[in-house]
Amino acid sequence: MTKNSIRKLGRQSLLITLFLFICSQAFAMSDEACMECHSDPDMTTEKNGVEISLLVDHEIYKDTIHAENGCISCHEDADVEEGEDHPMPLAPVSCENCHDDVSEMYAGSMHGQSLIANDPTAPACYDCHTKHYIFPRTDRRATTYPLNIPATCGSCHQEDSEMTQTHVMTESNIVKNYSMSIHGAGLYDDGLIVTATCSSCHPAHTVQNASHPDSSVNRNNITGTCSTCHVGVVDQFNMSVHSPLVTKTDKKLPVCTDCHTTHTISNVRDKDFRLIIADQCSNCHEHETKTFLESYHGRAGLLLGGEKAAKCSDCHGSHNIMPVESPESMINTANIVETCRPCHAKSNESFTTYLAHGTYNDKEKYPALFYTFWAMTGLLVSTFSIFGLHTILWVPRSLIERFKEIGKG
Ligand code: HEC
Ligand code: HEC
Ligand code: HEC
Ligand code: HEC
Ligand code: HEC
Ligand code: HEC
Ligand code: HEC
Ligand code: HEC
Ligand code: HEC
Ligand code: HEC
Ligand code: HEC
Repeated sequence: MTKNSIRKLGRQSLLITLFLFICSQAFAMSDEACMECHSDPDMTTEKNGVEISLLVDHEIYKDTIHAENGCISCHEDADVEEGEDHPMPLAPVSCENCHDDVSEMYAGSMHGQSLIANDPTAPACYDCHTKHYIFPRTDRRATTYPLNIPATCGSCHQEDSEMTQTHVMTESNIVKNYSMSIHGAGLYDDGLIVTATCSSCHPAHTVQNASHPDSSVNRNNITGTCSTCHVGVVDQFNMSVHSPLVTKTDKKLPVCTDCHTTHTISNVRDKDFRLIIADQCSNCHEHETKTFLESYHGRAGLLLGGEKAAKCSDCHGSHNIMPVESPESMINTANIVETCRPCHAKSNESFTTYLAHGTYNDKEKYPALFYTFWAMTGLLVSTFSIFGLHTILWVPRSLIERFKEIGKG
């Protein structure tokens, strides 16, 4: 083919396309035609015993992302000759016709599966996006705009909705808890739209139960989910003894939500967070927690209710925890003086010989403390025993002496 004939062919097909387009516009029902009837606020119909309004607000609709498509791009069978009534009922709208990628993905999700299983409370596309007022997610009017997402999901996931009353979930008060969490407070109090909303942790079209291996909130995927925003923390965490990249073990390694929770994540400077840190660590380090609670810091924490006393993470770190022999460990001899200093200005090498987990009943780990304790206890016991025996032996003797005195008197 010559260049010329290619150009000719191109021009012809362009003309044909234009012709077809004009035809389709000429014979298709325009939005204005639909609005002649559907702008009536009193027009209703009954579906499954429920009365629904047939009004579409064209003032809002004309700004939406689908405005250019026209009503009949979704309601294909409403495209009838002028003067004719469109059939009733109309075929259900298929978003899939144009959004096959999203629809396919959605069908595999827990929401999609419950829709396929005819769960009456399962979300259809329009339960999250609305039927007619769909805006880009960067538009404040969109139900998918970050500020609006908790309410969008909350229409079903808030307490006392029909859905939560008919389904068993392990997490309760999700929306309320989220609103009070650091992420929710960021969103609502500061309008911080880069903070985590429901769909940052549960990608909207691929929601799965936490036990599903592909779920964004499965234990194995949590770090990745938080790392979309907390990059620095995750980098640090990935190099610590708690990361599966570093420690190969059959024991359960902690993930972000073990220490921070899920829907109630708080500011780490909150008193409550500082006070529960030991509890979080104790789930896996029972022995060290016990010995810590017996230490000066542990008792000071308990007695004073004190958030000021050292907590596990003040000495070990939080995302950079390493075994004591590692040079990066905050309690390695190379670093420990500095670790105590923020609270003990006079910290020096001899100060740090204090046993943070010092306990007298651990012979293997702290023999000095163990033997000192038993030696001191032994001394105390024998001292009291000798004095006791002495006193007991003296009782009859002193009684006799007393009676003698009374007799004399
Ligand atoms: C002549 C008036 C009229 C026009 C024009 C009109 N409709 Fe309707 N439409 C109705 C009435 C009346 C009903 C409710 C019928 C019923 O309840 O039985 C209805 C119902 C509907 C429904 C609900 C269908 C269902 O299955 O529940 C949709 C969707 C709809 N119309 C879309 C459109 C679209 C899109 C257009 C333009 C292409 C349009 N209509 C034009 C009168 C009209
Ligand atoms: C992006 C797709 C889409 C477009 C475009 C669209 N609709 Fe709809 N419409 C829906 C969906 C989804 C429903 C819910 C019923 C269903 O699934 O069939 C619906 C339902 C309706 C109903 C029934 C009332 C209700 O709320 O369920 C009417 C009336 C209606 N549409 C009119 C219109 C008119 C008029 C236009 C153009 C101004 C239009 N639609 C454009 C998707 C669309
Ligand atoms: C559970 C609520 C929910 C359901 C159900 C849902 N979506 Fe979404 N959708 C969202 C949210 C939220 C966003 C914004 C993206 C984000 O925040 O991750 C979005 C974004 C989109 C986008 C923009 C492109 C993109 O991927 O970001 C399209 C297109 C879309 N949805 C189509 C659909 C279709 C089609 C269906 C039905 C098969 C559907 N959605 C079902 C919540 C939902
Ligand atoms: C006739 C084709 C067509 C149908 C049917 C259709 N859409 Fe769309 N949709 C589009 C086009 C075109 C865009 C704009 C794409 C773009 O700009 O990236 C779009 C964009 C979107 C967006 C993107 C908003 C964003 O954040 O960028 C969402 C959400 C969406 N559609 C949801 C739906 C839902 C829900 C349905 C079914 C009720 C539906 N669409 C039916 C053609 C369609
Ligand atoms: C910072 C991340 C994060 C945010 C934000 C978040 N979630 Fe979650 N969500 C999680 C994690 C992690 C789990 C898994 C808990 C587990 O392991 O069982 C979860 C679990 C769930 C569950 C399942 C509960 C069950 O019983 O199986 C639902 C439903 C849920 N979230 C809904 C929401 C809703 C709605 C929002 C917004 C109001 C939200 N989540 C915000 C992280 C988050
Ligand atoms: C129209 C109601 C509805 C809306 C809106 C909705 N969901 Fe759901 N969601 C459900 C139902 C129903 C289930 C339970 C499905 C099942 O048990 O088969 C569910 C399950 C879930 C689960 C898994 C629960 C589990 O047991 O592990 C998560 C996570 C979840 N939804 C998050 C969201 C998020 C995030 C949004 C908003 C983007 C949202 N949902 C919007 C109805 C809804
Ligand atoms: C072993 C428990 C533990 C694990 C696991 C953990 N954190 Fe932390 N995190 C903490 C403690 C304790 C603090 C407070 C540190 C402080 O007071 O200096 C903290 C602080 C934070 C902060 C505040 C900023 C900072 O660095 O002080 C963020 C953000 C954070 N964690 C996110 C995460 C993420 C994301 C993950 C998962 C990769 C994670 N955390 C895993 C215990 C943990
Ligand atoms: C979409 C981004 C995003 C995701 C995903 C996210 N966060 Fe956050 N997170 C933020 C932002 C932004 C802040 C700061 C909020 C503020 O100050 O109002 C924050 C704050 C925090 C804080 C408090 C930090 C402090 O200084 O006290 C912790 C802890 C935290 N996030 C943990 C997590 C965990 C754990 C996950 C995963 C389950 C997670 N985040 C997922 C954006 C995110
Ligand atoms: C979900 C369980 C879990 C939680 C929660 C947890 N850890 Fe660990 N931790 C482990 C595992 C598993 C190891 C790997 C070494 C091992 O096998 O004991 C480890 C190792 C350590 C080590 C190195 C010890 C060694 O023998 O190498 C220290 C120190 C440590 N954790 C401190 C903490 C502190 C402090 C917290 C709380 C802020 C905490 N851990 C929370 C499971 C946990
Ligand atoms: C005042 C600082 C301090 C506090 C607070 C503290 N530790 Fe320690 N921890 C140490 C020091 C120093 C060592 C190493 C020497 C030793 O075993 O006594 C250690 C050892 C450990 C080890 C063994 C580490 C290894 O590499 O073998 C674990 C696990 C541990 N601590 C967990 C905890 C937990 C859990 C808490 C809170 C309940 C806690 N620690 C509180 C300073 C502290
Ligand atoms: C987060 C602050 C904090 C850190 C870090 C800390 N401590 Fe303490 N420590 C305290 C508080 C508070 C008391 C109680 C002070 C009081 O009652 O006067 C205390 C008391 C003590 C005491 C007994 C009283 C005294 O002052 O002699 C010793 C010993 C001690 N700490 C050793 C250490 C060592 C060693 C380290 C480092 C491995 C350390 N502490 C790290 C806060 C901390």
